[in-house]
Amino acid sequence: MDKSEIDTPALIVDVDVMLRNIREMAKLAKERGLKLRPHVKTHKVPEIAKIQVEEGGKGICVQKLSEAEVMAENGLDNIFITNEVVGQLKLPRLAKLREKVDVFVAVDHLDNIRDLSNVMKEHGLELGVYVDVDCGMHRTGVPPDKAPDLAEAVTRSEGLYLVGIMAYEGHAGAPRDREERVSLINKAMEQTLLSVELVKRRGIEVNEVSVGSSATVRYSSMFEGITELQPGMYVFNDYYLVEREAATIDSCALHVLTTVMSRPSPDRGVVDAGSKTFHFDMNRYPIAVGVEGVEMVKFSEEHGWLILRGQAQEKIRLGDRLEFIPYHVCPCVNQFDILYGLRGDRVERVWPVAARGKVT
Ligand SMILES: Cc1ncc(COP(=O)(O)O)c(C=O)c1O
Repeated sequence: MDKSEIDTPALIVDVDVMLRNIREMAKLAKERGLKLRPHVKTHKVPEIAKIQVEEGGKGICVQKLSEAEVMAENGLDNIFITNEVVGQLKLPRLAKLREKVDVFVAVDHLDNIRDLSNVMKEHGLELGVYVDVDCGMHRTGVPPDKAPDLAEAVTRSEGLYLVGIMAYEGHAGAPRDREERVSLINKAMEQTLLSVELVKRRGIEVNEVSVGSSATVRYSSMFEGITELQPGMYVFNDYYLVEREAATIDSCALHVLTTVMSRPSPDRGVVDAGSKTFHFDMNRYPIAVGVEGVEMVKFSEEHGWLILRGQAQEKIRLGDRLEFIPYHVCPCVNQFDILYGLRGDRVERVWPVAARGKVT
């Protein structure tokens, strides 16, 4: 199949760029003596997860139990759900999954530790647990001074064992200003390592200290005491990361292929991909690549509204195919059933996005 035969809108992945991204991150982790646990929530494709493992990943991360189930069904093992798994509907599913594969979860509440212990005991299983520490994002996680209590509760709970500490510093990658990012990463790693110190002072062993987002991992991985990295978006990259100096246009492996479906006036065009394709996130629009003077300025569900400037007003014709880099790649992928893996114009792979829509 040739690229010209792909109907639009479609997600196309440059296989070589993706492999380069995967290998570069694996090399960084290896050089620093750290474990890389790629976060597969970005692509949700078991085959790509397997490539990441073959290229040096030590297991994978997912965000949801249902993503973990899909990965396990497709042959992956050693799966860290970097999230709290809470509720009586989910816990038996977690136990069932633990019967099949090595799975780990994050915890930030004593009640959850009790419930996890009960369900694992009931099934005669052992579950590895990371204490989730809030290193500044203020999403989930406990402050560092509460980590020892949770760690101790885990070590005392039948059916559970402590793996270590997890602290996600995604917030630190958000500022566009480099100094601000560096300052936030410094603070986040300080908080993370403080929590490790406090847990150790309680006489409890901390084997893994797991951090890392694609925007910050090159710097946060330099802190002594970190053992494991869990970046996700680096596999494809996106314009969010380009703006934060963590990627370049050339390292963005995934493009959205669209067709110009309307040319209402010389300075306006419309492509067949709107918010149901890209997902409108962070108030930002995707970036056109390979053409000058094309700016996406608005979405409706099935329409991407373009302003055309300069030569683009002449050049862009009805039926032309335009490519865009999503601003945030993860929710965009989650809207598609398949990814096309391309080498040049040749379609080499069609990957089902098997964990698409897996949010429970
Ligand atoms: C807990 C956790 N770990 C790792 C990641 C991966 O980070 P990124 O996608 O920025 O590389 C995320 C992303 O949201 C996350 O929530």
